[in-house]
Amino acid sequence: MPPKILVVDDDRHTRVLFERLLAKSAQVTLALSGAEARQCFAADDFNLVLMDQRLPDANGIELLREFRARRPHLVSILMTGFADVRDAVAAVREGLFDYQTKPFDDLEAIEAVIGKALELDRAYREIDGLRQRLASEPDLPLVVGQSPAMERALAQIRQVAGLDTTVLLEGESGTGKDLAAHLLHASSPRAAKPFLEVNCGGLPETLLESLLFGYEKGAFTGAGQATAGYIEKAHGGDLFLDEIADMSPKLQSSLLRVLQDHSYTRIGSTQPRTADFRLICATNRPLLGEVKAGRFREDLYYRIAVVAVRIPPLRERAGDVVPLATHFLDHYNARFAKTCGPFTPAAMRALESCPWEGNVRQLQHCIERAVALHAGGPLDCLHLFPDGQAASGRCAGEVAEAEFICGYQEARAEFERDYLRRLLTQAGGNVSEAARLSGIPRQNFYVRMKRWRAVTEK
Ligand SMILES: Nc1ncnc2c1ncn2[C@@H]1O[C@H](COP(=O)(O)OP(=O)(O)OP(=O)(O)O)[C@@H](O)[C@H]1O
Ligand SMILES: [Mg+2]
Repeated sequence: MPPKILVVDDDRHTRVLFERLLAKSAQVTLALSGAEARQCFAADDFNLVLMDQRLPDANGIELLREFRARRPHLVSILMTGFADVRDAVAAVREGLFDYQTKPFDDLEAIEAVIGKALELDRAYREIDGLRQRLASEPDLPLVVGQSPAMERALAQIRQVAGLDTTVLLEGESGTGKDLAAHLLHASSPRAAKPFLEVNCGGLPETLLESLLFGYEKGAFTGAGQATAGYIEKAHGGDLFLDEIADMSPKLQSSLLRVLQDHSYTRIGSTQPRTADFRLICATNRPLLGEVKAGRFREDLYYRIAVVAVRIPPLRERAGDVVPLATHFLDHYNARFAKTCGPFTPAAMRALESCPWEGNVRQLQHCIERAVALHAGGPLDCLHLFPDGQAASGRCAGEVAEAEFICGYQEARAEFERDYLRRLLTQAGGNVSEAARLSGIPRQNFYVRMKRWRAVTEK
């Protein structure tokens, strides 16, 4: 389904231009006035609204405010003249996605902004869809991800969730293995039974052993009373062993015995007990590599890797970054009672080009910090990457090393356009103030603004 875009403008030229520009990729509806726009908006569900600021019967900014009151996640772009830039900048602070100045000289730039706006709309819809589905199944954890790589992993999880087979979750740190383990549990018939989780890397061998197997009174110094272990407590449910590669050789063989015999004994007891748990394991080091290196028992490996699901790193899930970021934005806005966002187009590009070596957890922390420190309003590159981390470099020039390198003139123009635009935003749309901030003489500053051309007198 092509996206639906509502273009509201009384100027024939603008309407014709957008109709031509978008005809191939979108379903365009045109409205000539505020009244017509209201009718269209009520009758259809648009992915994007392109709104002129000065309409014969309405003010575009106010009309968008009215639309957003009805649909808070509406993504909109304001079309404005140079004279009204100040109002447009203020509107961006209220949740407008972006503004474009008329007349439109740089159609490629407009297409790029529209592309980003539609991407944000998709992210909102994906999350809203997930939340709606969750409302009917409130115990399932919310897992954002529609990239092909993540879809494959989720399909595997759904396939095996209901089976009593051991599952091994492999993936780099922060990719969502814990979340996947909870999803496996929550979507299985064992959901009503316990879910016990232990990190094998975090505990000394003896402690882990007593935690898993339990012990009888007096089994060792300090064993004051008989205590059930996780294997026992997980009866009928799931036992999740995180960082399984860190398990000691002795415990590896104890675990192997439990899996083979379906029985175990508490420490200090000879009475066998029946084990009934599904085992879920996770590792951030490929377990087969550990087997080859002689650090992990091969026979145990084959017992626990009956079904192995690889949770892909975020860099292989390109389409997931903006939906995840938007999900965390909503989450922390609610948690800190704030109204930060949306992301600016430049921020979205920066998010997408960041390498995210710490995967989803790093992205989550990045958004949490930004929301915590920001008073409210749109989030730009500097809010997300204040220390000039990897991605922020891209905001200035949009040139990534591995990508196509354009000519110097083109790169400079790109930088200047972006710089002036950000400057103007910072100065609240006040051109004299922007000139002062830049240190460029005022007259000269105007010339540059004109050269940049996206800002021209109406
Ligand atoms: N697809 C997703 N949708 C929503 N939230 C996610 C997703 N993936 C991960 N998260 C969140 O990111 C954070 C890190 O995920 P998680 O703890 O599951 O990673 P992990 O692979 O277990 O990491 P580690 O290897 O460090 O233990 C958690 O807060 C989790 O809720
Ligand atoms: Mg984990």
